Amino acid sequence: MLIHSLEQTTLCRGGFRRTALHFKGSHFTSMPIGPASCPQLANCPTVIVMVGLPARGKTYMSKKLTRYLNWIGVKCRVFNVGEYRRSAVKEYKKFDFFDPENKEAMKIRKQCALDALADMSLWLEGEGEVAVFDATNTTRERRQLVLDYCQQEKNFKVFFIESMCDDPEVVAENVKEVKVNSPDYRNMNKDEAMRDFLERIRMYQKSYEPLDTQHDKEKSFIQVHNVGQRFLVNQIQDHVQSKICYYLMNIHVLPRSIYLTRHGESELNIKGRIGGDSSLSFHGRQFANALAKFMEEQDVNNLKVWTSQLKRTIETAGGFHAPIEQWKALNEIDAGVCEEMTYEEIQEKYPEEFAMRDQDKYHYRYPRGESYQDLVARLEPVIMELERQTNVLVICHQAVMRCLLAYFLDKNSDDLPYLKVPLHTVMKLTPMAYGCKVESFYLNIEAVNTHRERPKNTDPLRKSEDALETVPDHY
Ligand code: F6P
Repeated sequence: MLIHSLEQTTLCRGGFRRTALHFKGSHFTSMPIGPASCPQLANCPTVIVMVGLPARGKTYMSKKLTRYLNWIGVKCRVFNVGEYRRSAVKEYKKFDFFDPENKEAMKIRKQCALDALADMSLWLEGEGEVAVFDATNTTRERRQLVLDYCQQEKNFKVFFIESMCDDPEVVAENVKEVKVNSPDYRNMNKDEAMRDFLERIRMYQKSYEPLDTQHDKEKSFIQVHNVGQRFLVNQIQDHVQSKICYYLMNIHVLPRSIYLTRHGESELNIKGRIGGDSSLSFHGRQFANALAKFMEEQDVNNLKVWTSQLKRTIETAGGFHAPIEQWKALNEIDAGVCEEMTYEEIQEKYPEEFAMRDQDKYHYRYPRGESYQDLVARLEPVIMELERQTNVLVICHQAVMRCLLAYFLDKNSDDLPYLKVPLHTVMKLTPMAYGCKVESFYLNIEAVNTHRERPKNTDPLRKSEDALETVPDHY
C-alpha cells in the first residue's frame, strides 16, 4: 500500500493551522496538529478539476478561464501538474513515462499531483477563491482521490471540466502549435516530438475513463465536446459554476483579430476636461479618416465596428462601410459630479475625493458616478460578445479601453487604471497559443495626452503636484 505523508502549514481565512496530510491507498486522513480551523463559509472555495487526454485544450481553457475569473474579480489561479512533473523529473526522455504500467513513473506522477494539491489548498485557504487543478485526471481512481481530498478533507467545492475531442485534425493542430514547443521537447526535433506526443496520448488512452452521466451523476461537471460544438452540463451547484459554463459556451478558437482604439481627439480632450459628450476636434476628424484608411489596408474579413453611444466615437466611425453597432455599455466611465471638469478643478473643489481616487483608483467611485470596478461589470457582456465574434474594431474611450485591454492581457486591478492607451493609436490583438499578440499602431495624427500618471505619493489630502503635471500636451 502506498502511503504518502506531507505536512503543511495552512493559512486559512480564519488564521493559521497545521495539518499532517496522509494518503492511505484510496483515501486521505488528516490530523490537525495546531489550533483553529477554517470557519464553514457559505462561499467556500472551488476547485476546478480539468479532465481529458493530452492536447485537448485543457491548459488553454484553464488559463483563459482563470484570466476571465480574475478580471471579474474572482481570485483564481492554475495549478498545473505538468510543471510539478517537469521540476521533479528534469530530463524527459520519452512517452513510456506515461504508460500506466510504468510503476516507477506512476509513483512520481502521483506524488506530483499530491504536491500540486497541497500547494493549491494552501492558496485556497489563504487568499484564493477558485483554483484550477490542471492535469489529465483521466481515471476514475485519480478523480476520486482529488475529490476525497478536496471535499472530505478540505471542504472545497469540486467542479470538473472535461474536454473531449475526436477530431484528429484539431488534436494534431494543437500538438503542432503548442505541444512540440513544450520544454519536454527542447532536445528533440519537431517531427520526433510530434511522434512522441501522439504516442503519449496513446498511453493515456489505455486507461481513459471519461465522465459518465450514470457513474458520475452526483458530480458537478461540464463536458465540452469538439471545442465547443456540444456541451453536457451536470449538477451545477452555484453561481461560480454557472458562470464558468456560460463562459465556456461563449468562447471559440477560430483565428481572428480584435482591434481596439479610442475615439479621435475631442473638443473636451483639448481643454483637458474629462467625460462629457463633445464632438471631434480638427485632429480628431483627421484621425477618423486615417482610421478608416488603416482598417481598409488591414483587409479584414467581415469586419464589424462597435462604438459607444457618445458622439466622439460615433463620429470616429463615420468613414466606415462595415456594419456599425452602438453599445451603451461602451460609454466612458461616468465621472458623476466631476463630469466635464479638469483634474486640477476636481482637486480644488473635491480634494478628499481626488486623494481617495489616487489611493485606490480601481475601486474609487465618483460621487453619483462609477468606478473602474463598476465599469468592468458593465463591460462583461461586451467581452462575452467579443469572445463570440470574429474580427471586430471597438472604438471606445480611455477607461473603457483599459478595462478591455486588461481582460485580454491579463492585467491586475491595480495596474488596470494606469494602462497607457494614447489617443490616435490602434491596438491589434491576435489570440495565440495561450495568450494574445499585441501590435500597436500610432496613426501619426497629433493629439493631446490625456494620461495621468500613477501618483508617487498617495497620502490622503496631500495637495499633490501630480495633477499639475497632467496639463494636456502634444506628443
Ligand atoms: O480624459 C479622457 C477620459 O476618457 C475621461 O472622459 C475619463 O474620465 C478619463 O479619461 C478616464 O481616465 P482616468 O481614469 O485616468 O481619469
